[in-house]
Amino acid sequence: MTLNVKAQISPSVLSADFSRLGEQIRSVADSGGEVLHLDVMDGHYVPNLTFGPLLVKAMRKMTDMLLEAHLMISDPDLYIENFIEAGADIVLVHPSTCSSVEDTLKNIHSLGAKAGLVVNPFEKLSLIEPYLGLMDQLLIMSVVPGFGGQSFMPEVLTDLPDLRQALDEHDVLVEIDGGINKTTIGSVLGMGIHRFVAGSAIFNKHATPGENFRTLQSLASAGK
Ligand code: DX5
Ligand code: ZN
Repeated sequence: MTLNVKAQISPSVLSADFSRLGEQIRSVADSGGEVLHLDVMDGHYVPNLTFGPLLVKAMRKMTDMLLEAHLMISDPDLYIENFIEAGADIVLVHPSTCSSVEDTLKNIHSLGAKAGLVVNPFEKLSLIEPYLGLMDQLLIMSVVPGFGGQSFMPEVLTDLPDLRQALDEHDVLVEIDGGINKTTIGSVLGMGIHRFVAGSAIFNKHATPGENFRTLQSLASAGK
C-alpha cells in the first residue's frame, strides 16, 4: 500500500436496525469506527429501495464518522448535490449510471466531497483506467449490488494486480463491498485493499455492532 491509510472496516447501515439507528451507529463509533457506508438504492438501477438525502442528513447529526454514499441509482447527477449538502463526505457512483463519468467526478469534487467509482462483478476493473487521475477511491463490488447478506465472489479480484501500479501512482484508495465477514476477510488481506465494507457481519443478532466491528477490525489490522 502506498497510500498512508490503515485498514478500515466501513460498516454498511443497510443491515442496521433503523428503529435504533442512532444507538447502532454510536456503537461502532465508540469502538473506533471512522467511516460509515450508506447504500442508496432507487428500485430502478437495483431492485431494492433504501433511503435518500433526508436520512443522510439525520445520520450526519448522529456522528462525526466519515459518511460514504454508495449511489446505486439511475441518474446520480440529479442528486449528488443533495447528498453532499446532507453531509456525505465521499460519493461513489457506478460509471454506467453517469452520462459523463468525467463530469460527474469533477462535479463531486467541485462540491467539496471525495469521489469514487464502483465496479460491479462481471464488469472489467480496467474500465476505471481513464479516470484514475480524477478519482480518490475505487469500490470493487464482491456481490451483485442490491442486497445485503449475499455470498462473497472472490473472482472479482482476479484483475486487481494488473491495476495495482496505476492505482498506487494515483493514490487511489481501494475498497471492497459485499460478503465480507470474519470467514471471508482473510482471503482479501494482503492485496492492497484499504477499506472493507461490512453490513450483515456488523449489524446482526450475534453481538453488538461495536463488538462485531472490533472483531473484524482486528482481523483487518492484523493482515495489513
Ligand atoms: C450491496 C451493498 C453492500 C451491502 C453489503 O448492494 O452495496 O454495501 O450492504 O452487505 P453485506 O456485508 O451483508 O454483504
Ligand atoms: Zn455498498
